[in-house]
Amino acid sequence: MIIKVLTLFPEVLEPYFKSSMIGRAQSKNAVEIEIINIRDFSLDKHNSVDDYPFGGGGGMIMTPQPIINAHQAAEKKCNSDEKIRTIYCTPKGKTLTQQIAKELSEEKHIIILCGHYEGVDQRAIDTVTTDEISIGDYVLTGGELPAAVIVDSVVRLLPDVLDSKRRYEEESFYNGLLEYPQYTRPREYLGQKVPNILLSGDHSKISKWRHFQSLKETWLKRPDLLNAISMTEEEKEFIKK
Ligand code: ADE
Repeated sequence: MIIKVLTLFPEVLEPYFKSSMIGRAQSKNAVEIEIINIRDFSLDKHNSVDDYPFGGGGGMIMTPQPIINAHQAAEKKCNSDEKIRTIYCTPKGKTLTQQIAKELSEEKHIIILCGHYEGVDQRAIDTVTTDEISIGDYVLTGGELPAAVIVDSVVRLLPDVLDSKRRYEEESFYNGLLEYPQYTRPREYLGQKVPNILLSGDHSKISKWRHFQSLKETWLKRPDLLNAISMTEEEKEFIKK
């Protein structure tokens, strides 16, 4: 997968993309990530990238030219006739979910546009964007943190990026439920014991216990998620208790 991120603040994203899991994914060639500085594409003699809004109002608006040219350069670098999805990070977008991250992880080419200042000229958005994504109902100062969130949620789903023993099927949201509680050593800490069943070695019992714990977590913390799944009679009885 190739990901290009268009931003005015590469220094915000660079350390994150170099570190830990995202860095490892790149060294394993699971993904190639490039940060493109929109300012490098400004044809203005002062390299400016923003201007006052027509119609008045405060703040500065990112101008269309540097964005559209940076986007063209990113598309060319993808060097492909295959589909390219261009995501604009905005609170107006569809809220990012595990399902959207999964879909994006199946793409070959993704370009992410980070807005800044008070906004982006609508013509730039209309020209380059295929998808608008929000990371939640609040407003951030720019699209860099959302871009990092999108990249992280997508890259960890690529083959060979996480520990091969890690099973996505057991993570929160995979089957519409939250993940069951996990424990490691020691068996007892500050008087709190690891549930006996996890020490039993009986994998079918452990699996069933985990499933019902997932149901319980979801019922207690995100009951709204249960509306989207169908439950067996046994499961319905369990959450009523
Ligand atoms: N840019 C500013 N706020 C944002 C949000 N909540 N999601 C995505 N992009 C944004």
